[in-house]
Amino acid sequence: MQQSQEKTGVKDPRIRVLSVVGARPNFMKIAPLLRELLARGGFESCLVHTGQHYDPTMSQSFFRDLGIPEPDINLGVGSGPHGEQTAQVLTQVERLLLERRPDVVLVVGDVNSTLAATLAAVKLNIPVAHVEAGLRSGDREMPEEINRLLTDAVATWLFVTEPAAQANLRREGVAEHRIHLVGNVMIDTLLEHLDRARKLDTLQRLGLHSRGYALLTLHRPSNVDDPQQLRQLFDVLEEIHEKVPIVFPVHPRTAAAIQNLFGGEEPALRLVEPLGYLDFLCLMADAKLVLTDSGGIQEETTALGVACLTLRDTTERPITVTEGTNTIVGSDPATIRAEASKILDGNGKSGRVPELWDGRAAGRIIDVLERELGRKP
Ligand code: UD1
Repeated sequence: MQQSQEKTGVKDPRIRVLSVVGARPNFMKIAPLLRELLARGGFESCLVHTGQHYDPTMSQSFFRDLGIPEPDINLGVGSGPHGEQTAQVLTQVERLLLERRPDVVLVVGDVNSTLAATLAAVKLNIPVAHVEAGLRSGDREMPEEINRLLTDAVATWLFVTEPAAQANLRREGVAEHRIHLVGNVMIDTLLEHLDRARKLDTLQRLGLHSRGYALLTLHRPSNVDDPQQLRQLFDVLEEIHEKVPIVFPVHPRTAAAIQNLFGGEEPALRLVEPLGYLDFLCLMADAKLVLTDSGGIQEETTALGVACLTLRDTTERPITVTEGTNTIVGSDPATIRAEASKILDGNGKSGRVPELWDGRAAGRIIDVLERELGRKP
């Protein structure tokens, strides 16, 4: 960036965007934004991977599946306690920003890397665009909720996916001109890859039939770190599994919890390794039911019209409940059992796809950045 200008002595008129990603749920959000930046030509893009997620199944496979360019820089931060991980990203991104001096830092979602990169940038007076801003679960015990609140308090442009997020930001006193309701970049990615994903043989490979299985993801500390809570969840899930096979791609955090808490004794579900984006999308699109504690999957199932039970007490994505196919069931076994039965008996709720979740959110975001950064009237 900066260096190329120094070499030639000519000021590059392009807008220099430095994007920071770190963890699995960031990758499907950044993909359409990077593509849009490249397609427009007026931007110079630098992609930084913090290395928060580093396993091939949690990181590289997403870059490959989604055609994301190799990161220009990988900070190799890795796992660690929250403070340490956040501090490492903050220190390293600051150093990089001092060197490169981009016009804007682009961050997505609510992971530790999102907050750390934002802090590094704003302290250097570099504006930050936060994509997927304004979501609030109201639960400050979730590390992501702290990341969301702090990122939005200092970022420059806040791009939101649903009206409730807009309302949250207004309530927190954010100036109107900073808030942009643009739709959902994760759904841009889903719509782009859905046909390709549906053609995969993922179901056959796992011996599943269309609408004849459930799909489970579980990795929130509140669900997996407490042995009693996890055992209770597995008990009711095992019951459901007797009616419909539950496929469970296991996040490394959850694999470690299963190992530590149950001495290697696995729950009686179909456990598989974490799946790549396309395989997971293929399974999600044809599932009878999805059970999850993830944020993004609540939105993806709403976009697909597939019933979703969210194994948490709150959601930061209320439109998936009010308009979509999502039901919040918490961790109470009776509620989980009852809601799952409803869906298996064909009485699940149907929903509609929220406004602006149309595959064009990235374009709207880059339009705003072009305008705000002064390259367009
Ligand atoms: C992070 C995000 C969470 C997101 C999730 C998706 C934060 C606070 N949380 O949670 O919002 O939903 O990613 O996956 O940023 N590990 C590996 N290999 C990896 C990555 C992690 O083995 O490639 C293991 C390590 O033991 C690590 C643990 O998983 O300590 C947790 O990883 P971490 O990045 O701290 O948080 P996630 O639980 O993955």
